[in-house]
Amino acid sequence: MKKFRLLLIATLVVAVALVVAYRLVNTTPNEDLPLEKRVLAILNDGGCLSCHSANPDLPFYASLPVAKSVVMKDVNEGYRAYDIEPLMEALRSGTLPNPVDVAKVEKVAIDKRMPMAKYYLMHWGSQMTNAKRDIIVEWATDYRTAYYADGLYGERAGEPIRPIQPATNIDDRKAKLGFELYHDTRLSVDNTISCASCHGLNTGGVDNKQYSDGVEGRMGGVNAPTVYNAVYNFVQFWDGRARTLAEQAAGPPLNPVEMASTSFDEIIAKLEKDDLYVAAFNSIYGDGITEANITDAIEEFERTLVTPNSAFDRWLLGDNSAIGEEELRGYALFKEYNCATCHVGANLGGESYELMGLRRHYFADRGMELTIEDNGRFKETQQERDRHRFKVPGLRNIELTWPYYHDGTRLTMDEAVRDMARYQSDVDLTDDEVESIVAFLRSLTGEYNGTKLTNVNMYGEIFDHDHDHDHE
Ligand code: HEC
Ligand code: HEC
Ligand code: HEC
Repeated sequence: MKKFRLLLIATLVVAVALVVAYRLVNTTPNEDLPLEKRVLAILNDGGCLSCHSANPDLPFYASLPVAKSVVMKDVNEGYRAYDIEPLMEALRSGTLPNPVDVAKVEKVAIDKRMPMAKYYLMHWGSQMTNAKRDIIVEWATDYRTAYYADGLYGERAGEPIRPIQPATNIDDRKAKLGFELYHDTRLSVDNTISCASCHGLNTGGVDNKQYSDGVEGRMGGVNAPTVYNAVYNFVQFWDGRARTLAEQAAGPPLNPVEMASTSFDEIIAKLEKDDLYVAAFNSIYGDGITEANITDAIEEFERTLVTPNSAFDRWLLGDNSAIGEEELRGYALFKEYNCATCHVGANLGGESYELMGLRRHYFADRGMELTIEDNGRFKETQQERDRHRFKVPGLRNIELTWPYYHDGTRLTMDEAVRDMARYQSDVDLTDDEVESIVAFLRSLTGEYNGTKLTNVNMYGEIFDHDHDHDHE
């Protein structure tokens, strides 16, 4: 009996000592420091840079024979999955980080998934604790309140998804001119195609085709994204090759498989025959019809193409009855399965480049031969790390913008959602889960000029599976 009691006491002493030791090494950053400095300390202690940067600062044991291959595997996979250097730099210099970085770090902290056990077992004190997690979550909430001037407050202030803001500071005369140009087929070589041919405003801002038809039925090799809310994208095109909407708008008119004009001079000569255009350009711009003025007006019009007031946004802004149980469950799953670490902000995307096939081999499974477009961002940078990285598409009005993905291979939301979970999050969703997430996605359909968007293709002829290159 006595022996047992001794043993019990000894065990207790050891346990207390361990807890104390754990507390001592696992220090929570000093509360006097500003939040972002505390987050910086947590990330530094967590060794995040060892596995998530181009030039990792490796621990000493990384040079030991067997350890080396284990460590290098984590380092390579870690850097492939996520580059944390831009966030660290923002925290060091006190500038505002990217909302995707904030969402990603917050999520791994909530899940206590990082740093990996392998790492914190070797690096005492680096483990994610509740106290550290709480600091990160508080920082993320503060950050979003400062970053988005959208008036979300209270329990929704920290949501990674934000409401769309109504368009403000629009120059109406420019926007009207832009509207005309947007619908004007004279931008194309044979006067047959306008921007609206591929981005119809009453078809969700897309053409509902796998690949678009340009002049003379010529076809491109990538799916047309929507123009609605494109103003929220940090860059334009799947590969980000245009920095602004105006720069983007200069592309299609001269693109040989789209509008195929040979030069802006050719387009300008056509528009100059139109007195209404001449008068409008002259009164707005002074220097008349130029390439820069054409694309500026189109950009101004595109700035109006925002779709606020969706059911989900009304919920975000405090109307609890705007969406139901099913949508709420879908939103919870959307966050749980990491969707909201890439599809963040007002447009649920458009803030970063991400790997297609982060967790499983999308392109190998697809079966179709690789195309130039599949290279994504790599086309622009020639950096191997950018191969198969794409600007994350926004998910607003997604129920109207089929088919999905850059290759237009997913015809329904169900398929797109199921495969996203599989390839990006390594999760096989149940049918029930797919249904809830899709219900949530449907609640993202908003209003343009006060009218809820619909798609005139919705109940009519939908898919054009077998494209005939020669057709009209
Ligand atoms: C020992 C190497 C290692 C360390 C240390 C490490 N990570 Fe990771 N991390 C990985 C690997 C490997 C992956 C990809 C596999 C995975 O997601 O499990 C990853 C994935 C991630 C992702 C992407 C998750 C996703 O699915 O989008 C984030 C974000 C991340 N880590 C953040 C962190 C942060 C923050 C820290 C520091 C607190 C950290 N990591 C420390 C190896 C590491
Ligand atoms: C022949 C069909 C076609 C025409 C005409 C066309 N586009 Fe596009 N548009 C596309 C395709 C396809 C893409 C994607 C190309 C890529 O990412 O490489 C695209 C991309 C865009 C994007 C980028 C959206 C994003 O999320 O990255 C915008 C904005 C856009 N187009 C606006 C316009 C405007 C403005 C015009 C007229 C000046 C126009 N488009 C004419 C097919 C077309
Ligand atoms: C690692 C970042 C990442 C994660 C996590 C992620 N996505 Fe995506 N998502 C992308 C990228 C990149 C694309 C574009 C892929 C392509 O076109 O090949 C995309 C495309 C989509 C599309 C099609 C959009 C369109 O217009 O074509 C849907 C729908 C979608 N994601 C939903 C989800 C859902 C639901 C989840 C969670 C289960 C999720 N995503 C998780 C990055 C991500």
